Amino acid sequence: MEFTGSHILSIEQFERFDIERVFTVADTMEPYAQRRKVTRVLEGAILGNMFFEPSTRTRVSFGCAFNLLGGEVRETTGFETSAIAKGESLYDTARVLSGYSDVICMRHPAVGSVSEFAEASRVPVINGGDGPNEHPTQALLDLYTIRQELTAKQRGVDGLRIAMIGDLKHGRTVHSLCKLLTLYNNIQLTLVSPVELAMPEYIVDLLRSAGHSVFISQDLNHSIANVDIAYSTRIQEERFGSKDEADHYRGRFRLNQAIYTQYCEPNTVIMHPLPRDSRADANELDNDLNLHPNLAIFRQTDNGILVRMALFALVLNVVEQIEGSSRDVNWYRGQR
Ligand code: NCD
Repeated sequence: MEFTGSHILSIEQFERFDIERVFTVADTMEPYAQRRKVTRVLEGAILGNMFFEPSTRTRVSFGCAFNLLGGEVRETTGFETSAIAKGESLYDTARVLSGYSDVICMRHPAVGSVSEFAEASRVPVINGGDGPNEHPTQALLDLYTIRQELTAKQRGVDGLRIAMIGDLKHGRTVHSLCKLLTLYNNIQLTLVSPVELAMPEYIVDLLRSAGHSVFISQDLNHSIANVDIAYSTRIQEERFGSKDEADHYRGRFRLNQAIYTQYCEPNTVIMHPLPRDSRADANELDNDLNLHPNLAIFRQTDNGILVRMALFALVLNVVEQIEGSSRDVNWYRGQR
């Protein structure tokens, strides 16, 4: 695909070659993310960061990624503080805000909303999550992390064995990740969810059409027994009609140290897009795994910066200028 000037709306836009391109650029962002070097390559550029649903890491990491490339960030969060609360359409909002920004990241509760916004935008738009549909940048950072974890074990993504656990019906991260895995070969997926919260049928069909083995299960313990990655997710309570309905499923699948030790192969990597629901009645990924070396959740969040920097650099066509515009830094860098 041609990255320059493109919207990033769905994983369906990408070929395997494009994914490798994003990852190769992401690798080169490490010194900037680690604060060993600074670049001002996007000096003067403005990111419009528009988040109409709760977000911590996606919103902040998009903003930090843009800042790390030297750009400025303007944010709108929540409908109540934006003119959408006065009845303004996505079309008008897009026409207006794209006049103020060089690129826009958007999260919105409605399926297809970010694409609709992008059609009216005068600048590239990146989907930060459109309701239960897709979350393409999360899938990219997840696969980047999977690749990194497997490389450390002298393996590649082809032949991966992964269990996805939790609310697979509403979880946009697993939807995008499954679509991404269709670009690879010979993947074995075990999809663990309550029957009512199963992965959408069309995504299972996409996986099977790609030649992958897909097992559907309601049993956590045995599903995580022979996998490289156990990818846990939260019950997406905001997608249910009532809290009671979500409560019915909360806490159904809990991964903790005891279960991990009893059932998982010793090398199994634990992932979660976060936020994990740490309330006692949920706790799908227990804090007693916090110091486990195979817990990759904070490597995922760190990698989010690299992948998002790479996407900005590609979409705004500055990849080749970064090296030349960089200098060393010498402030205290913390324990990175
Ligand atoms: C996810 C999301 O918003 O879809 N969070 C994230 O962006 N990392 C997952 C979730 O909210 O459960």
